[in-house]
Amino acid sequence: HKHLLGIEGLQPFEIRDLLDRADGFVDLNRRADKKLQLLKGLTQINLFFESSTRTQTSFELAGKRLGADVVNMSVASSSMKKGETLIDTAMTLNAMHPDVLVVRHQDSGAVALLARHVRCAVINAGDGAHEHPTQALLDALTIRRRKGRIEGLTVAICGDILHSRVARSNILLLLAMGARVRVVAPTTLLPAGIASFGVDVFTDMQRGLEDADIVMMLRLQMERMQGSFVPSLSEYFHFYGLTYDKLRAAKPDALIMHPGPMNRGVEIDGVVADDIDRSAILDQVEMGVAVRMAVLDVLTRHLRGEAA
Ligand code: CP
Repeated sequence: HKHLLGIEGLQPFEIRDLLDRADGFVDLNRRADKKLQLLKGLTQINLFFESSTRTQTSFELAGKRLGADVVNMSVASSSMKKGETLIDTAMTLNAMHPDVLVVRHQDSGAVALLARHVRCAVINAGDGAHEHPTQALLDALTIRRRKGRIEGLTVAICGDILHSRVARSNILLLLAMGARVRVVAPTTLLPAGIASFGVDVFTDMQRGLEDADIVMMLRLQMERMQGSFVPSLSEYFHFYGLTYDKLRAAKPDALIMHPGPMNRGVEIDGVVADDIDRSAILDQVEMGVAVRMAVLDVLTRHLRGEAA
């Protein structure tokens, strides 16, 4: 593949290769000297139209640790504020000969559209409610390292499924790798036809969490709700917020995950999120750097004259 636009279209062996490669970068990231020169001479531009803490920082670190020159383009101070279109911005950056563009955009499909107008590799860092492939890969690496496998596990993805690119990418990846996937949400936060993806659908947390190996919580994406359905936060926490009480339904060693950013007291109780034995939330962040290094490595291999 020239680009990474989504999990859709990736074969299980390709996912496994990325996870194996990322695994190899985890130890490097824990060393004092973290620098490799695999991407020496290459230029990576991070173009984020939506805010980000984890994804942008980890893509920057990943590129730098592999030796690339990394530029973070500030959209707020760019000429897009003067009316330049997405396509003109893409063609302008393309003329500067970057080797990788990492793009986050609020509209589903915008990153794929941009990819058609540039020569370099494009990585989707999240497009609207469509896909966030590196998030699903880092979640998979976290699960594999903590549980030793993905196949056969029961993963409950809970919360705002409707607006979540993380849910969509995770569903595609986890099913491809042989996990059983459940979605747990009020009907108002479930996309129409979600069962056709091959997931089991629950509207009750207790039943949805029963015997789950992994409990993955999602934030309410208020910014995408546009006044249609905005739940009362205290009522939402009462029915869908992860507490120790609700967690009792899951397996005793169930792993708690959250892609971040997290809203404590809304979709998850702070004490559960901070449980050092059961919460993998900060592991997910750590795996994010390694996974992004693996993706950068694979997408630039042809530039180093290695076999693809
Ligand atoms: N999980 C995630 O994508 O976080 P950011 O929005 O902070 O990048």
